This record gives sequence, C-alpha cells and structure tokens, in this order.
Amino acid sequence: MDDVVIKKLSSDEEVPYELLLLADPSMDIINDYVYRGDCYVAYINNNIVAAYIIVKTRPLTLELVNIAVSEAYQGKGIGKRLIFSAIDMARGEGARVLEVGTGNSSIHQLALYQKCGFRIVGIDRDFFKKHYKEIIIENGIECIDMIRLSMYL
Ligand code: COA
Repeated sequence: MDDVVIKKLSSDEEVPYELLLLADPSMDIINDYVYRGDCYVAYINNNIVAAYIIVKTRPLTLELVNIAVSEAYQGKGIGKRLIFSAIDMARGEGARVLEVGTGNSSIHQLALYQKCGFRIVGIDRDFFKKHYKEIIIENGIECIDMIRLSMYL
C-alpha cells in the first residue's frame, strides 16, 4: 500500500466530520471532542483516509476518543497503524496512561484495541442509553454499555 502520512490537523484546516461520524453518530459529541482535543489525520497520496482525536482527560492521562478509517481503506492495517502512532505521540507528550472506550457491541473494535495492547479496566454501564438519543445496534447486539480499556505507556 502507498505510504500513510499522519499529521496533526491545524486549526485552519477542515475537520473531517464525515470520517469522524463513522465512529460516533453524534455531531454534538464530535464537536465537543474537536474543541477539547487534538485531531490527527492520515493521508494516502494527499487524500484523507483516516482520523483520530485525542483528549487530555486527567493529569498524565490521554484518551483516544474517536478513530475512523474511511470504508474503502478499512481492514488494511491503517487502524492499527493509527493506534500505534497515537501511543507513540502520547508517550512523546509525557502521558502515563492512554485510555479508550467502545461499545459492548463493537466486537471488531474490542479485538483491535486488545491487539494493540489495551486491557479492559471497567464498564460504564448504560453510557450509550444515557448519552445517545437513537438506539444503536451492531452485530445484532444493542449498544448499551461502554467497555473501558487502558494501557500504561
Ligand atoms: N472484521 C473482523 N475484524 C476486523 C475487521 C473486520 N471487518 N476490521 C478490523 N478488524 C480487527 C481485526 O482484529 C484486525 O486485526 P488483524 O489485523 O490482526 O486481523 C484489527 O481490527 C486491525 O485491523 P485494521 O485493518 O488495522 O483496522 P481498520 O483499518 O479497519 O480500522 C476501525 C479499524 C475500527 C478504526 C475501522 O474499521 C473504522 O473506522 N470503523 C468505523 C468507525 C469505528 O467503529 N471506530 C471505532 C469506534 S470505538
């Protein structure tokens, strides 16, 4: 595959909402993440193919709050590369813990995060019921709880 170049989005660049909406159906929540965090974008031949957002949640703790690869490029290892790049960036910034959360129904994402070294640390019960208006169904499972994962850097 052609080279993937990952860069931090600068404040004068357009936020790749279409991509970020793949990971989170709520525009309000995405806007909150964009406001509070840093968005990183992956390019192949100058086209945006993936993005992630990192937010500082507590001292020495960062959270990967949104990661998305455009549909045509999924399943080619870009998600994994983005996560490893986020881990390197978080280490470089001196953070000690990197966290991520995903839905109880997000089976592939749960596999991906664990393959990248995250471990399950808890369950935020009813998170999606409380914060999302629409019912989310994935893999035939209702998305209700957020599985919390983290890694020490
Ligand atoms: N079926 C099964 N497993 C899959 C999969 C699929 N279609 N897509 C990804 N995976 C899992 C596999 O475990 C894979 O591991 P492997 O390489 O050892 O087989 C691992 O994820 C890494 O795959 P990769 O190709 O790097 O993933 P990706 O580039 O497709 O990115 C997502 C993964 C989740 C970011 C991407 O699919 C996506 O943008 N999905 C929609 C948005 C989303 O759900 N974001 C996360 C919200 S929590």
